[in-house]
Amino acid sequence: MYHKKLDLFPNDFLWGSASAAYQVEGAWNEEGKGESIWDRFVKIPGKTFKGTTGEVAVDHYHRYKEDIQLMAEQGLKAYRFSVSWSRVIPDGNGEINEAGLKFYEDLIDELLANDIEPVVTLYHWDLPQALQDEYLGWEGRQIINDFTRYCEILFKRFKDKVKYWVTLNEQNVFISHGYLAASHPPNVKDPKRMLQANHHANLANAKAIQLFKKMDMKGQIGPSFAYGPTYAFDAKSKNQLAAENREEFNAYLWMDIYVYGRYPKVAWKYFTENGIAPTIEDGDMELLKEGKPDFLGLNYYQTFTVKDNPLDGVGAGKPNYTGEKGSTEESGMPGLYKEVTNPHVEYTNWDWAIDPAGLRIAMRRMTSRYDLPILITENGLGEYDRLEADGRIHDEYRIDYIREHIIAIQEAITDGVEVLGYCTWSYTDLLSWLNGYQKRYGFVYVDRDELNEKELKRYKKDSYFWYKKVIETNGKELRKYETE
Ligand code: BG6
Repeated sequence: MYHKKLDLFPNDFLWGSASAAYQVEGAWNEEGKGESIWDRFVKIPGKTFKGTTGEVAVDHYHRYKEDIQLMAEQGLKAYRFSVSWSRVIPDGNGEINEAGLKFYEDLIDELLANDIEPVVTLYHWDLPQALQDEYLGWEGRQIINDFTRYCEILFKRFKDKVKYWVTLNEQNVFISHGYLAASHPPNVKDPKRMLQANHHANLANAKAIQLFKKMDMKGQIGPSFAYGPTYAFDAKSKNQLAAENREEFNAYLWMDIYVYGRYPKVAWKYFTENGIAPTIEDGDMELLKEGKPDFLGLNYYQTFTVKDNPLDGVGAGKPNYTGEKGSTEESGMPGLYKEVTNPHVEYTNWDWAIDPAGLRIAMRRMTSRYDLPILITENGLGEYDRLEADGRIHDEYRIDYIREHIIAIQEAITDGVEVLGYCTWSYTDLLSWLNGYQKRYGFVYVDRDELNEKELKRYKKDSYFWYKKVIETNGKELRKYETE
């Protein structure tokens, strides 16, 4: 769709940026914090790049004021961060750790004092280890009540301060990586267990939203979903069907539950036929229907291009966690689809497709199928950055990436999509889960690497100054900027 003129960004558009507790905080066992499944998982040899952990991460726990100062100076309107469940309730369902809660209260107060809207993610993957030990975490139904109680504690405490809440971050990612690929905790490879854990996550998400409404909270709530739209490799009908399959199993399977409280028919038939469908108890489907979110959080990084894949075709291949371009192995779901290189887009050093138009497509598809406002909760470029001798980082590739994605958002708005805001990933550099610290996403460079924490000094990248200008002009000025 071409437009003669693009709509302007709304005046209250949330120009933001994001992070997650395990990736930035550090202080993994300080002031009463309990162990999380990530604290434990990263210690398994060979699981993360060069054995990196988030034990210190970028020390945001101790330096949050300095980080917020940088945000304020940049003019950031919103900061999305996650609460670490085991910092607030060390064993997941017992006593509250007041020091943990206080940390988040101070963080929120500091943001508000600087006119930055806090966007609070309730769960960004760091489940209390105690719940994993007690009833296998997401595999136990008790997680539904324990998660809801944890949410209630946060809702009560921050009711008057926080307007935007994100329930689960990328349920599709933590469930499939945790229970199918065994590349995330709890390190399981079992599709039946995966779907049961996923069903409980669906219910926990719905119950938290139901509670939010019952408590008459003032703000808005929704999950953050990792949606990378699928393209068929070409117009061959079997490749088109492969694309339908990927959408069904990677997108509708989650978003249909969030919005309509139903499993998509095709996926459900496949699960029952393969004997892996989750057990559904009385009242589950009713609860799912009641948990309709106010918005859909969208984490967009890339699109996926697929071809037909027969029953004896390729299965899961190893992704690129090293930053060696081209090292991603072929991957697919036998009988459904396989992912192939898209010859029409560029790829990053971690083999992620750079495709700004894909963001517009994601927003259009979500709007036509779900008709809810969208909050872009993540989008960004993970790349190598170089700190120059003069303390500068010339990350024009990141500026290009974000600029083109902002234009895609503006086009989507002009198409008719309702967008609440845009949070880049990430504010400072941080731990990129399995990729160590060399895959950098931030506007703010943090001087540490895999082997050496150094002084964790912060440096403003060129993209920092560029985004400052974008915010100042409410998205009207996407090209000119001045560094200090
Ligand atoms: C999303 C997550 O999957 O993508 C973030 O919500 C993550 O936590 C980001 O860091 C980028 O992925 P990665 O693997 O490069 O860190």
